Amino acid sequence: MKVVFIGDIVGNVGRNAVKRLLPWIKDKYNPHIVIANGENSAGGRGINAQITRELFEWGVHGITMGNHTWDNRDIFEFIDDEPRLIRPSNLPPGTPGNGSMIVKVGGKELGVVNLIGRTFLPPSDCPFRKADEEIEELRRRTKCILVDFHAEATSEKIAMGWYLDGRASLVVGTHTHVQTNDARILPEGTAYLTDAGMTGPRDGVLGMEKETVLSRFITGMPGRFTVAESKWTLNGVFVDIDDATGKATKVQLISLDEDTWIAV
Ligand SMILES: [Fe+2]
Repeated sequence: MKVVFIGDIVGNVGRNAVKRLLPWIKDKYNPHIVIANGENSAGGRGINAQITRELFEWGVHGITMGNHTWDNRDIFEFIDDEPRLIRPSNLPPGTPGNGSMIVKVGGKELGVVNLIGRTFLPPSDCPFRKADEEIEELRRRTKCILVDFHAEATSEKIAMGWYLDGRASLVVGTHTHVQTNDARILPEGTAYLTDAGMTGPRDGVLGMEKETVLSRFITGMPGRFTVAESKWTLNGVFVDIDDATGKATKVQLISLDEDTWIAV
């Protein structure tokens, strides 16, 4: 099974990049399933019903979230009725929505788990123990499992990669918005990448207007961040998975930029 994961979609620049490039990505990589992190897709903060609908129309099959899941209150209206969108699984019991899903396209079934880290992020339940539970459950249906670990600390993400080696097909980090160059297949067959990177405005600071961010660093005064208006960058990862074993056979970075990308 071939899977493409698209890193954190930020605002309208990120959404437009997905709309424009997904047909090309599908031509090039022939993915059976496309998963995207959408927690910054509505103006950098959360997601709404219309954007969710559009991402599915454009060819995304499943959406993961993160620490900004609840920033757009629109999500409460639909999260419990939308099985193709998940929020971090290790949020407290009783939280709306689900933390894992089976994405089924054609004859292929991919289990997807969303987890959030505990280092430099608000308190949550243990992502490692939650991963055990979710993966045990999903493996009753499919051995092909993608884990989006939305976390700040590189060390926590690397630790999760080792922890799930042999049990997940892909462990990919999100949240830090800068793609890392460490894609590899771990010894027991789990493809691993510390961070998929961002899909959004290239010339801001992690997708936000650079002037406001700079001002906050320099003056220490509060300022409201807005999504930068600039050329796009689209980042993600491609993985090929052996359906019978769930082990990854290939992992490859996807990193596209408005200035260097040429549709061929
Ligand atoms: Fe985040």
